[in-house]
Amino acid sequence: MQRLAPALRQDNVPLDLISLIKTILAATKEISFRVSQAHLGGLMGSTLDENIQGEVQKKLDVVANELFKDILLESGFVRAISSEEEDSSVAGDPEGKFLVSFDPLDGSSNIDINSLIGTIFSIHEAIPGMDAEDPAQFQQPGNKQVCAGYVLYGPSTMLVMTTGSGTHFYVLDRTHGGYLLVDRNVQVPKDTQEFAINMSNQRFWQAPMQNYINDLVAGETGPRGKNFNMRWIAAMVGDIHRVLTRGGIFTYPADNKKPEQPYKLRLMYEANPMSFLIEQAGGAAMTSQGRIMDIQPESIHQRVEVIMGSANEVETCLSYYK
Ligand code: F6P
Ligand code: MN
Repeated sequence: MQRLAPALRQDNVPLDLISLIKTILAATKEISFRVSQAHLGGLMGSTLDENIQGEVQKKLDVVANELFKDILLESGFVRAISSEEEDSSVAGDPEGKFLVSFDPLDGSSNIDINSLIGTIFSIHEAIPGMDAEDPAQFQQPGNKQVCAGYVLYGPSTMLVMTTGSGTHFYVLDRTHGGYLLVDRNVQVPKDTQEFAINMSNQRFWQAPMQNYINDLVAGETGPRGKNFNMRWIAAMVGDIHRVLTRGGIFTYPADNKKPEQPYKLRLMYEANPMSFLIEQAGGAAMTSQGRIMDIQPESIHQRVEVIMGSANEVETCLSYYK
């Protein structure tokens, strides 16, 4: 099995980006260890704080964020970071070439039940002449990402990453301490009979999503003429990993549960990196209005509607909105 650096060189990834990726992965190995030891180290449960989005921070959220942030800001490669757990962007090296957005621990509600969680990251190039302190430099669409990925802290610690030359799977090999390539150019099957959505929000969705899901649930006897299965891991990293592995449609649609907040998932460090991975694997990543990666971001923590996965199924879902 190929090691990470030669695999990246094969995809002609520039050396400075390879160095940044190695830095990120050093942080994920440490987070992976802390996650596995969390119960023993008193890191289960919540802190007394909320993040800027009004969500209670788990102790492990804070630990993962600090680890990731420190290692990136000290690396010299990073002009600034933005994180789910930071109110604003944080300046790094004024000469740093890259911007990194990340969700240090996605799926926080799974921490205390020893279930799937992961770190999601997205890399853009820093804009020449822009100040490291300026959060406006993060207002670049997903189609400008130079790398995106996640590390899933599951039964194996897996890295799933793209630099724009396909989406590849790696597994952390604890015998030598590095990530090994296990699947090059994974492909999301175009068709699927599996969907992922939080069904408890059904009454809050817009009519097109209600109609679409009703037709899936109607199965063989409905207009789709086939049965669908449902899966919901409650961590986007886990659900997207299943979609990348065997296909499916994952959606967090608009809802009116809290009218002031119609969307749940965050564009910069959830929707964009996952969109890059899904599209590089031949899938589709959309809102009901267009391609996620073409959205011009307005703020670091902005939220967005997400409909992604098997290309034909995403297209069918979107046809309900026309
Ligand atoms: O980060 C937000 C998140 O935890 C995602 O990982 C996940 O898909 C979603 O929220 C789960 O939300 P819900 O509470 O609706 O299950
Ligand atoms: Mn998250």
